[in-house]
Amino acid sequence: MSPVTSVAAKIESALSAAMRQALPADQAGADPQVRRSDRADFQANGLLPLAKRLKSNPREIAGMVVAALDESEVFASCEISGPGFLNISVTDTALLEQVAARLADSRLGIDRFEAGTTVIDYSQPNIAKEMHVGHLRSTIIGDALARTLGFLGENVVRHNHLGDWGTQFGMLIQYLTEHGHDWQHEGEIAGSLSRLNQLYRDSRALFDSDAEFAERARRRVVALQSGDAETISRWEEIVAESKRYFNEVYDKLDVLLTDDDAVGESFYNPFLNDVADELEKLGVAQISDGALCVFFDDVTGPDGDPVPLIIRKSDGGFGYAATDLAAIRYRTGTVSAHRILYVVDARQALHFRMVFETARRAGWLNDEVTAVHVAFGTVLGPDGKPFKTRAGETIRLISLLDEAVSRARAVVQEKSRHLDETALETTARQVGIGAVKYADLATSRAKDYMFDIDRMVSLNGNTGVYLQYAHARTRSILRKAPAGVVEKATVHTGVPLEPAERALALKLDEFSAALREVTTTYEPHRLCVYLFDLAQAFTGFFEHCPVLKAPTEEIRDNRLLLCRLTGDTLKTGLGLLGLSAPDQL
Ligand code: ARG
Repeated sequence: MSPVTSVAAKIESALSAAMRQALPADQAGADPQVRRSDRADFQANGLLPLAKRLKSNPREIAGMVVAALDESEVFASCEISGPGFLNISVTDTALLEQVAARLADSRLGIDRFEAGTTVIDYSQPNIAKEMHVGHLRSTIIGDALARTLGFLGENVVRHNHLGDWGTQFGMLIQYLTEHGHDWQHEGEIAGSLSRLNQLYRDSRALFDSDAEFAERARRRVVALQSGDAETISRWEEIVAESKRYFNEVYDKLDVLLTDDDAVGESFYNPFLNDVADELEKLGVAQISDGALCVFFDDVTGPDGDPVPLIIRKSDGGFGYAATDLAAIRYRTGTVSAHRILYVVDARQALHFRMVFETARRAGWLNDEVTAVHVAFGTVLGPDGKPFKTRAGETIRLISLLDEAVSRARAVVQEKSRHLDETALETTARQVGIGAVKYADLATSRAKDYMFDIDRMVSLNGNTGVYLQYAHARTRSILRKAPAGVVEKATVHTGVPLEPAERALALKLDEFSAALREVTTTYEPHRLCVYLFDLAQAFTGFFEHCPVLKAPTEEIRDNRLLLCRLTGDTLKTGLGLLGLSAPDQL
């Protein structure tokens, strides 16, 4: 197993070497800026700005660099164009060697270039409440990042920061105690969560309208916080019931999260006093109107007054911010993470900005140990408004997922009549769940996105199903080859390539760069764009280049292996996004 250097990277390093040779030492390290191009295979744009800095003629500089270029097998040509760009074409042999090298490696030649510990805080539903589409987004995006970073060598620690602590539990437990509702029903998990959710609302309503109940609820919070046995056991029942429901969603969604990843807010409860003391001692936080606060020059309310981050309320209670600070201290200290990713709704941006800044002042975060708010936009319904039912209720997640699967079943049934009932069942699930995930991941995460099941399961356009079909098509070509041919096929690196083959091979060469982009931007969307382009390049290839009826056996072999590498790349890429790639559709 050895990482394979892409053709693009080889060009880049050959150019860099030529620049080191031809240019003054202080400019020699400049980026040659190699990009894919329509005019040739690649274009290098870096010499232009460099010539400007050197106050020299860019074409002359380009000439010197080209002259210093090592005669390598990779370059078919390297021409100076326009004011001083380089147009670069690569040899067919270099492309075919690349295909062969990637096929020979079980990781498709992808390097493990990440090597630290990253905590990814994602999913984070709230106990006793329905999981909503925002939690769905967090779950899907966080899971894709966990898989991708993990594949690239990072030690990923998943933290499902469940909302399992706080004053609302006093209210709920008190209500349950007084009204004795039998909210647990065996075998009907989603149903009982819904009842729990209803009870939660009823308790809230009573809390707001009945001062005496509110007082009893407050006493219940104190009992919970001081570890009163009966109260704690009630709380545990509620947490367990909610977790069962969340796990049902995770199972359906086919994500990595397990019970072991549930490190909820309550986990940090024992550390809150310490954290507050430390922040106060460090001078990061100070008492203001009885509360322990952190202030920021640039965070003010409408009246210009500073809006602090409240660590401890004047009644002594801790809230969301204190918990998040304790979590940072734990994750950077005990877990030894060098990076924490928070996959959370963009509307919490200010909260995280203040929390991260506080942690930086306390020295828990710094240039080497960072935290990133991986923010995402709102989920909209097909009407363009935040996703709700007509009655204004948030839509049950489980029913949404079931709906996607049943739509997918209709699409698959229509297209693939050969599947038997069991295969149809499995495939419908893979396609339906894949459709939901892909639709979320395919838009840049900061944008709001529209939850439109019809579009999600469409065979046309940039959808999960489209990619799953492209993958299945590569497998079907391989299946149709005469027995033994695929197994024996080798890449014939001396055979010239057709334009559609070159286009496909050049796309295959970009896989590692696409993965790297995901890890620098935390945008699984980049991988979606890549896979969609790859599927389209494959369609172009498939339309122009007969595989099994290729003119010679050598060409047939090369084409079969292009199919195989395309299939493997699609499968690996889809897998990193959390989608299954069935061999047959
Ligand atoms: N449970 C919160 C919510 O539903 C999200 C928690 C995000 N994570 C965090 N560490 N604050 O809004």
